Amino acid sequence: MNIRELMRPHLQKVNPYVPGKPIEELRREKNIEGEIIKLASNENPYEPMDEIKRAIIDEIPLLDRYPDSSCHYITNELAEYYGLSREQVFVGNGSNEILELLVKAFVNPGEEVIYPFPSFIAYPLICQQSAVTDKKIPLKDFTVDLKAIKAAVTPATKMIFVCNPNNPTGTYVGGEAVDDFINGLRRDIIVVFDEAYFEYVTAPDFPDTYRLLREYRNVILLRTFSKVFSLAGVRIGYSLSHAELASCLHLVRQPFNVNSIAQIAARAALKHFDKLKKRIEENTRERESIADELRAMGFTVPPSQTNFLLVVPRAEGNNLVSRMEDRGVIVRGMAPFGLGGDSFRVSIGTVAENRRFIQTLREVTA
Ligand SMILES: Cc1ncc(COP(=O)(O)O)c(C=O)c1O
Repeated sequence: MNIRELMRPHLQKVNPYVPGKPIEELRREKNIEGEIIKLASNENPYEPMDEIKRAIIDEIPLLDRYPDSSCHYITNELAEYYGLSREQVFVGNGSNEILELLVKAFVNPGEEVIYPFPSFIAYPLICQQSAVTDKKIPLKDFTVDLKAIKAAVTPATKMIFVCNPNNPTGTYVGGEAVDDFINGLRRDIIVVFDEAYFEYVTAPDFPDTYRLLREYRNVILLRTFSKVFSLAGVRIGYSLSHAELASCLHLVRQPFNVNSIAQIAARAALKHFDKLKKRIEENTRERESIADELRAMGFTVPPSQTNFLLVVPRAEGNNLVSRMEDRGVIVRGMAPFGLGGDSFRVSIGTVAENRRFIQTLREVTA
């Protein structure tokens, strides 16, 4: 008996998520002894703030208890931070969970989800897992093409993911484009603005999607503690929306979807957000100077508003990603994202990591 054949048919075809390669795995695979740096998963290169670490340590004795099912305190604090009611805030096990819950709550088999491509790699995975139809709309100039997305809407469309800024290109769509897009769009389509990199954005014309919440019951914004707050490992993200939309997510979540360490860490992170300003400024400076260097080396690098850069070489066939791995530098190859295998995405690391990355890339392209 082949157990795999017992699986629900749509799930047998799922393409598994391929994460950025862990440091220890590369060390074993390639027998590397020296320091390995990982710039592959858009993680923050810095440890969580001391205030967060202390809050986590204080929580450890309480781990024999289930977490607060309602995420009471972090929900209230996010609501206060954004000037919304607590009913408008939903907290999830990473924003990734909220994407899943949205599809689970709203999209019937036969209905479709539209999203840009290449974009966040979880979108196709979630659609496959939920047996819903997905429609991938190509980027234009490495940027989400909202006009094309709107033109692709059919009576079957139930949900649209707008990744802004877009992963893996780092580019963004501005406020005017978002207004044109939402204006006249059917209001029974759930529009998800996935803003995982929001805190890194400096562009003055980045859309004020928060404003849309007043007018549109069908709009939801996703944010996360994984990136700028250095908390990818604890898994916590949240959404802002109309209270009615958030109430639907509560109906489909696990009772204890957010663990207690994550709740306590996020509270400390939010409280001390101001202290991250310097790190955000360093990210911006480093990102722009690396982008300039890469362009001077002949790569195409779309302008980024995030903590990563997409790097596209003039020609394919040089195994850049694997040859950088040989030298202990892990970046994310873009083949799974539908780009050429020598294209890669590199996260902005510490100043020293960024220097090492550039040096290594110079070696493998020499
Ligand atoms: C665009 C985008 N959305 C969502 C996520 C998921 O973030 P989280 O760690 O909150 O699940 C990521 C993570 O890389 C992302 O790039």
